[in-house]
Amino acid sequence: MDRTIPEIMLNDGMTIPVIGLGTYRLKGNEGVGSILSAIDLGYRLIDSAYNYENEGTVGEAVRRSSISRDQLVITSKLPGRYQEYDKAVTAIQESLYRANLDYYDLYLIHWPNPKQDHYVEAWQALIDAKKWGLIRSIGVCNFLPEHMERLKKETGVLPSINQIELHPFFNQAEQRTWHAENGVMTESWSPLAKARDILKNETLQAIASQHQKTISQVILRWHYQLGAISIPKSATPERQLENISIFDFALNETEMNLIGELTRPDGRISNQNPAIYEEF
Ligand SMILES: NC(=O)c1ccc[n+]([C@@H]2O[C@H](COP(=O)([O-])OP(=O)(O)OC[C@H]3O[C@@H](n4cnc5c(N)ncnc54)[C@H](OP(=O)(O)O)[C@@H]3O)[C@@H](O)[C@H]2O)c1
Repeated sequence: MDRTIPEIMLNDGMTIPVIGLGTYRLKGNEGVGSILSAIDLGYRLIDSAYNYENEGTVGEAVRRSSISRDQLVITSKLPGRYQEYDKAVTAIQESLYRANLDYYDLYLIHWPNPKQDHYVEAWQALIDAKKWGLIRSIGVCNFLPEHMERLKKETGVLPSINQIELHPFFNQAEQRTWHAENGVMTESWSPLAKARDILKNETLQAIASQHQKTISQVILRWHYQLGAISIPKSATPERQLENISIFDFALNETEMNLIGELTRPDGRISNQNPAIYEEF
């Protein structure tokens, strides 16, 4: 069976798969096993972060994998406490040492932390790290349009990707429109809304039954048809396989609209509004 995951091109010319593996809480020997099973199944994009304390786990899986390094797209993220320029440069180096990698394919600012107001310096550090060959593509997470407009104004460089909370209960229509108009790729975090209540939703269940798919597969297909990259996390090979088996069916316009109607203004999982929420 062909398990090739389609790829999509970013504004800097790099191509990356439309589904990757989230790794929050995948750590240690078990974490290495889970990441290796995902790579065996066909995953090539792996999402990590300095603050997940698992860059070492990801790096170990990369080394043990039979897939060559240049076929993998490894992501990490800069924590809020290291956004001042010099600290950001050191943190990027430390991220690489932890993973024992020579470069990251994607490196993202984890949160804008607007009250702290160092995200433009952090962005300059990412721009420079890319020039030095430490990172292939640079992006952000949880940035509002106003934050990205400032990056563009002060550095001339827009992110390749903005990784944001996105799932049927919080579909970020306005933010996605801004991304599309400005050539920034949308990447969905918690794409399954952490697979809690959503897996009991009747609308999604009806659509899933219609296609003989699971609710998770319908949700991930919806992300794909929105044009968003998604990074579902699963520790188990069965679910990892389920989550990439979405390229043999399509949702019609009515189904896409029905899923679109599930969004709610208070649909965020943990009320993390980037205009005020800060993470260090
Ligand atoms: N940039 C940011 O600020 C930010 C914030 C949050 C997350 N993230 C990234 O986004 C990734 C994904 O988000 P997330 O981990 O919060 O949530 P998620 O991917 O929406 O959901 C993960 C949960 O769903 C379960 N699951 C996965 N596939 C399933 C399936 N097919 N059927 C039933 N249950 C399933 C997993 O359990 P099992 O593991 O037991 O299968 C896990 O408990 C993270 O791992 C992280 O890499 C980024």
